[in-house]
Amino acid sequence: MIALAVGGFFHDFNAAAYNAQTGMIAAAEEERFSKRKHHPIVRAKKSSLHSIDFALSKIGADRSQVEYLILSDVQFCPLHAYLISIFPDAHIHFVEHHLCHAAAGYFCSGFNDAAIVALDGFGDLRSGLLAHGKGASIHQHEHISMQNSIGLEYLRVTNQIGLGLYGSEGKTQGLASYGEPKFYDDYLNEIQFHSNGKFDLSDSLSSLKGFIDEEHYSQQKVFYNSFLAERVPRRFCDEPILQVHMDAAASIQKVLDYAVENAAQAMKRATGSKNLVLTGGVAQNSTTNGAILKSGLYDQVYAHPSSSDRGNGLGALLYFVNHYLKESVSLKKPIVYGGGEYDQFEIDKAISAVGLESKILDAPMEETAALISKGNIVGWFQGRSELGARALGNRSILADPRKVENKDILNKKVKHREWFRPFAPAVLWEDAQNWFDTDRPLAYMQFTVPVREPRRDEIPAATHEDGSARVQTVSKEDNRKFYDLISAFKELTGVPVLINTSFNDSSDPIVETPQDALKCLLKTDLDYVVLADRLIKNPSH
Ligand SMILES: [Fe+2]
Repeated sequence: MIALAVGGFFHDFNAAAYNAQTGMIAAAEEERFSKRKHHPIVRAKKSSLHSIDFALSKIGADRSQVEYLILSDVQFCPLHAYLISIFPDAHIHFVEHHLCHAAAGYFCSGFNDAAIVALDGFGDLRSGLLAHGKGASIHQHEHISMQNSIGLEYLRVTNQIGLGLYGSEGKTQGLASYGEPKFYDDYLNEIQFHSNGKFDLSDSLSSLKGFIDEEHYSQQKVFYNSFLAERVPRRFCDEPILQVHMDAAASIQKVLDYAVENAAQAMKRATGSKNLVLTGGVAQNSTTNGAILKSGLYDQVYAHPSSSDRGNGLGALLYFVNHYLKESVSLKKPIVYGGGEYDQFEIDKAISAVGLESKILDAPMEETAALISKGNIVGWFQGRSELGARALGNRSILADPRKVENKDILNKKVKHREWFRPFAPAVLWEDAQNWFDTDRPLAYMQFTVPVREPRRDEIPAATHEDGSARVQTVSKEDNRKFYDLISAFKELTGVPVLINTSFNDSSDPIVETPQDALKCLLKTDLDYVVLADRLIKNPSH
């Protein structure tokens, strides 16, 4: 039996497939094929099928074999009808939006019992689900309405301070460290927090009535409110960032921390579980995740790496298999390196197509580590691409964290993004505790934790304004090549840390193919690209 599931009907269209005979599961994100970041579905329509074909091919199937088609979201959207028409013989199932988020997180967490806090902007007229995962079941406790969306309020602030719309919330999180939470008390006057973990937003925050349709969404009516209009001057993207904008960012960050902690506390009381799963788009906020981890409320906290709608195809699939088919299928851990892989022939073909010279590295780890230690910024392309928003060492841009100027060089010349955006460090697992305030593996870059005080001056380019870092711990088992590369850098410098940022210009999705990597080299100020063992120098350097 072959089951196919799809999700991300507003943005981040994605697919997942399951082969019941072999137990194989695969997932894919459309943006990697379409090269449109977040793959906005309004423009996508019928082109959104590459991820479906890729996921099916990875489980050894094709479209003709699909017996079950599972669609994330029960609220009708035009693409549902189109997909159903492509699979006329398939049994169709719909899974509610936040159940997809919950299932994606819970069934990848490795827990057999966990409280689940799934919060996002909106989907299926809601913005959150508080649930209890037990064995193969997810018990729904509380739903949070779309009108009371804390994720959407975070987006409103992002918009008001001129940092962008959907997908730009991470910028607000980065800016928050520069501000004071001056509007926090005002916010608390406008939000009622309940002991069951839910919260209600006043009309001055949210006056949404009814379903946010495509037209409403594109007209941006949902991105304004009187609360912000009265306090924070609207900033447009190239205008200077004022202290008030930083304060607004710090305020909504603190509100979000409080809202998630309140929900986590309530679910602790309701479930008695020692484990917590954070999922939904809000779980991409590594500051909040770090605060929850530090609170010690739960023994274990799992923040799902593909927690946004980009993971809802897989979530719908896992919910369907466990709930409807009654097959207990848990992945135990997320699919991290689930994308495409390109062989030497394809890599060499891509290099000669752009007319660049390449050098074969005899010792790729040692030679690349040496280049990085001499101040070069290197695009690192190895094995299968990552699923999710983070590059975890297979499609990464790497730099020396000791050189403070690398932060500005990366922001200005390579990623073309705002000056205040921090860069994340990847650290050898064995050394993690010496450099960062963590006693557990944080392999998916989902938690911000303090850099140990004496170490902050040693890795200034990877330490944020407030002394924190969104760290990735790397073990041999996680990613052998990346581990060996960081080890080689440690051998040379004594520092077991590299800056690891996603391999892309900020307006593009993470590179998928060797062609994408070379295109990125040619349009940015990267010094080198390493494709497997091939070294290519930027011809303009
Ligand atoms: Fe969502």
